[in-house]
Amino acid sequence: MLSNQAGDGKRSSLHGHWSSRMAFVLAVTGSAVGLGNIWKFPYIAGQNGGGAFVLVYLACVVLIGMPVMMSEILIGRRGRRNPVRTMQILGEEEGGSRRWGWVGGMGVIAGIFILSYYSVIAGWTLAYIVKSVSGVFVGATAEVVGAEFENYVGDWRKVGLTHTIFMALSVYVVARGVERGLEQAVRFMVPALLVLMLVLLVYSINSGYFGQGVAFMFTPDFEKLTQDSVLAALGQAFFTLSIGMGAIMAYGAYLPEETSITGASAAVVAADTAIAILAGLAIFPLVFANGLTPADGPGLVFNTLPMAFGQMQGGVFLSTIFFVLLSFAAWTSAIGLMEPAVAWIVERFNKTRAQATVMIGLLIWLLGFGTVLSFNKLSETRFLAGTIFNNVDYLTSNIMLPLGGLLIVWFAGWVMCRNSTSDELGNTGKIFKVWHLAARFLAPVGILFVLLNAVGLIEWIRDRLA
Ligand code: TRP
Repeated sequence: MLSNQAGDGKRSSLHGHWSSRMAFVLAVTGSAVGLGNIWKFPYIAGQNGGGAFVLVYLACVVLIGMPVMMSEILIGRRGRRNPVRTMQILGEEEGGSRRWGWVGGMGVIAGIFILSYYSVIAGWTLAYIVKSVSGVFVGATAEVVGAEFENYVGDWRKVGLTHTIFMALSVYVVARGVERGLEQAVRFMVPALLVLMLVLLVYSINSGYFGQGVAFMFTPDFEKLTQDSVLAALGQAFFTLSIGMGAIMAYGAYLPEETSITGASAAVVAADTAIAILAGLAIFPLVFANGLTPADGPGLVFNTLPMAFGQMQGGVFLSTIFFVLLSFAAWTSAIGLMEPAVAWIVERFNKTRAQATVMIGLLIWLLGFGTVLSFNKLSETRFLAGTIFNNVDYLTSNIMLPLGGLLIVWFAGWVMCRNSTSDELGNTGKIFKVWHLAARFLAPVGILFVLLNAVGLIEWIRDRLA
């Protein structure tokens, strides 16, 4: 579909549309469910002390994430262009300014930065497919699994290679366009991933340390909650839901007019949160059972799960399937991370989708070497938040996504007129009112509060007033 105007006088997308409501929900779920749930959530929760962090994270998902996601979809569907152009068009239409386009621009950049490291970790999962098949984890102890990880991650050539392969896979799918291939992958992948997480959960329950794992995740110890870990919880909520950078806005641009935005958002948020919690419940008992510590960092999942699989009947098979599924989950997310940049290049510079994807893919691939080297040659090079990887991660998750989300939800709540937003959300009375209140007050105030707290501004003001 290449016309600019749909029959009812509304714009239509230049990149085609989702074939059904289900296709959209699957695509957004595919972008949301990824390394964020299974790789990142457990180690971030571990580094931030568990319980209290998880609670704040859940609050952020529901109170802030949900309204932001709805705002992103409705803006996307109304604008029907890449996030930069969409924000420009709506900015003008709604009596604001075309400078709102900058919000989309920041999203394009955030997506590029995130994928630059995301692809490296996704490459780890590819390597772990091969390792699983080869049987190195069968009956392996914590030491063996740990050494396997160190050997691999410590060699920049190996990590660079898997990063390259993953980027090539991502470029391939994005170049083919929105509709083909992906839907099928997600339809099968998310349920299968759920099943495997349940298998791991059963194993964890029988590990003898389940209680300790549950206690770590759900007993809030607010002593451990620093301002930076509240920010990390907010950042993780944005990251895991794929919001704050226009990716969902770009997907929303391909959404048919009649689909319920509220229903779709709720389904995605529920699925995404369920998988993260399951991952935590599967992983923390194994951490305790094997003498590891929750704060072990980015290697956590790669150091716990292979051991569990190594001790199971049919472990080689299950482990292989698991890392295949995780790679798929990462793949369907990588596509979403590229979409804003690719859509922007296609529309702005009149390139074909394939050309745009290759250009953006090359750029991301190059940037990715900053992260590749962060785990070996440059692991001692530390500034600001730590290694290059730590800095890219911190900048994107903890600053760019919340800031993007703040501006997006502000735009939907305060700049867009009520008629436009209620038109998109299908003015369903109560739901619209609740969303509108959340978009105007709860979400922006919440995000601002966390951001300002983290930079110490609120403390500074409190000191002045005291
Ligand atoms: N949500 C993805 C995950 O949890 C990562 C991600 C962040 C993402 N922002 C995105 C994916 C935008 C697609 C689009 O793994």
